[in-house]
Amino acid sequence: MARYELVKRSVALITLTNPPVNALSSPVRHAIAKSMERALSDPKVTAVVICGENGRFCGGADIREFAGPLRGPPLIPVLDAIEAGRKPVVAAIEGVALGGGFELALVCHYRIAHSKARLGLPEVTLGILPAAGGSQRLPRLIGIPAALELITTGRHISAQEALKLGIVDQVTDQNACEMAVEFALKSVGKPLSSRRVSMLTTPCPPDLDALLEAATMQVKKKARGVMAPLACIQAVRAAATMPFSKGMKRESELMTTLFNSGQAQAFQYCFFAQRTAGKWTLPSGAQWNNSKPREIRSAAVIGLGTMGRGIVVSLARVGISVIAVESEKKLLENGRQMVIGMLERDAKRRGVSASLNLLNFTLSLQDLKDVDLVIEAVFEDMALKKRVFQELSKVCRPTTLLCTNTSGLDVDALAGVTNRPHLVAGMHFFSPAHVMKLLEVVCGPRSSSETIATAMSLGKKMGKVSVAVGNCPGFVGNRMLKPYLDQATFLLEEGATPEQIDKALEDFGFAMGVFRMSDLAGLDVGWRVRKESGLTGPDVDSKNPPRRRQGHRYCPIPDMVCEQGRFGQKTGRGWYMYDKPGDTNAKPDPLIQNLLETYRSRYGIQPRNISDQEIIERCLFVLANEGFRILEDGMAARPEDIDVIYLFGYAFPRHRGGPMFYVSMVGLERVLERLEYYHQAHPDVPHLEPSALLKKLVACGSPPVQKWREYIKTMHSHL
Ligand code: 3HC
Ligand code: NAI
Repeated sequence: MARYELVKRSVALITLTNPPVNALSSPVRHAIAKSMERALSDPKVTAVVICGENGRFCGGADIREFAGPLRGPPLIPVLDAIEAGRKPVVAAIEGVALGGGFELALVCHYRIAHSKARLGLPEVTLGILPAAGGSQRLPRLIGIPAALELITTGRHISAQEALKLGIVDQVTDQNACEMAVEFALKSVGKPLSSRRVSMLTTPCPPDLDALLEAATMQVKKKARGVMAPLACIQAVRAAATMPFSKGMKRESELMTTLFNSGQAQAFQYCFFAQRTAGKWTLPSGAQWNNSKPREIRSAAVIGLGTMGRGIVVSLARVGISVIAVESEKKLLENGRQMVIGMLERDAKRRGVSASLNLLNFTLSLQDLKDVDLVIEAVFEDMALKKRVFQELSKVCRPTTLLCTNTSGLDVDALAGVTNRPHLVAGMHFFSPAHVMKLLEVVCGPRSSSETIATAMSLGKKMGKVSVAVGNCPGFVGNRMLKPYLDQATFLLEEGATPEQIDKALEDFGFAMGVFRMSDLAGLDVGWRVRKESGLTGPDVDSKNPPRRRQGHRYCPIPDMVCEQGRFGQKTGRGWYMYDKPGDTNAKPDPLIQNLLETYRSRYGIQPRNISDQEIIERCLFVLANEGFRILEDGMAARPEDIDVIYLFGYAFPRHRGGPMFYVSMVGLERVLERLEYYHQAHPDVPHLEPSALLKKLVACGSPPVQKWREYIKTMHSHL
């Protein structure tokens, strides 16, 4: 867990050996404490260097240990002993120094970093704060404003930035460990008191209160309802206003509150869920660690609309050459301009040069003969997509992978028109595709393991969080969204307003409620889909009983809004009104209020007061209920995958952990009971009927979310 060696006759080299990230597990803490005792008591040793094996200094506390009781020595006394020691200790930082790893470096008397190393205190992203002295030492070392920013955001910084801020003493391109040994030898005999960060006085700005107040406002706005950044600010205040020992006490009190909170559990669940999502499995037994992806050097994107452009940018910026295809000259030229502009802005932001030389534009599919992979992003029209896939099947070499960005059409039907159904899969990006991190990789029944491995690995290369999902209408994310949106509009019918529903969801933690979000995305998109699927249109409306479609309750209000040309922000009117088209400041619109009142009186609906609790329960329990059905149907492999999809594709608040984790925290029994209640009240809404899996889990004693998989195993998996 830590190797102890004597190098250059007098330097004790302590190497953390806990792969993959040298986390500070109980045995590692124990080994550091023992190694330090040995180094400090051995008269031959004049200085100490601490480094990590495999080019990684330390990824911080072992997060897996957080779930159980503390075992082994606590971290703080181990760190204090390093700082207080009378021999110089140098941290040799390679790879990462994060969280407790950064705090370990802060108690060393000197810090040498490799130029590629990254440092940071990401505890806030786990719902906690740097509680091994980080919140007290960092402000003493670099001042309040800089420390505040790093601690409240959890941002990782480069070695160069760390040098500028005064966190590290030297940055090297060479072996940081060897440099640290040389440095340690030179430090022998020099006074250490000024190198003990806990002994420094925090440089305190005169406008401390205003600074902390501004930071508080900022984090409240950015992370609605999240406790950790606020606690971080309080800890930094303690560093500014209290002596070190009292500040440490404050840090510990704040940590205790956070550590035991449901929010910390949710954040930590998200951390592991994100990593679990990459570990896909197919019913054939093929999985992430036994299937080799193909290397993709060249790709084509068909359709340069909203999605295609972002997909081209995502590919080109990771060095893949792209042929972009449009159907008409003008559209091609327009697409070219847009893509170049996006790539240039992206490159400027990242401080690199735009990879424009990787781009080619064409009107002809014939030019796609030699590409490794194609992503089709033409209109959501099955007949058109089939024509494109037939043509691709003829033109592309037989080994080319053919992928579709469809939001919900049958991927296997597209595979069926090609001469290589095993090489067809869905790659469902989210809008804007160059920004949104989520990629649903849709596994058709005939998709080969190599195809899935390649799509997953390409997603990772593009910086996406890729999740393998089954082939069903809407896949996972959009399939769950429908009942959620339906509930929001049913609540409108029953007496709520868009503002009230949005506020309840925003208070829950969403950055935007469902109606503000719909205005941003554009209301016409869903309208078109509803028309195409026979849910609305003059013919359909006149033939069906009011407020019923395809045998179930249907709310026509969204169609009525669109019929008035209100398509959301882009038209300056939607569920809200805006000062002008494109404006983002949503204001309640009396015309919508009027429309709702007229509608209710036309259908004899007596509006009632609807509580925020009902809004949350109906919208979110129904969302999770569909998630349970997806698990039953085998369209997602595990609840963690569904949560990751909602966190990264639909901005579900991270401190709630995702819809499935959220309902597990509410208690499955309660969720079942509420769904039964609402289903009884609204028997014509099948989505409110509790799913078989939810009932089964409750009958089995409501196991924690991480154990649900054991109960799903028997069901029919498509993944
Ligand atoms: N504890 C336990 N396991 C960890 C871990 C940690 N701190 N950091 C990473 N792991 C595990 C991951 O779960 C993953 O496990 P798996 O292979 O079983 O899925 C494995 O290590 C590799 O992790 P990644 O896939 O994330 O590897 P990358 O190379 O992509 O990233 C990393 C490496 C940047 C270090 C990233 O893992 C990371 O950000 N880790 C968390 C860092 C962090 O938040 N540290 C703070 C911990 S809290 C703390 O220190 C409290 C302190 O104040 C007392
Ligand atoms: P869009 O309408 O903005 O763009 C489609 C583009 O395809 C148009 O520029 C059109 O000219 C082009 N096109 C049509 N036929 C073509 C052909 N034969 N050859 C070459 N180009 C052709 O549509 P958008 O929004 O980009 O959607 C594309 C696909 O992505 C659809 O399947 C959609 O369901 C899916 N999608 C859309 C999302 C969104 O938020 N807009 C999100 C995720 C997926």
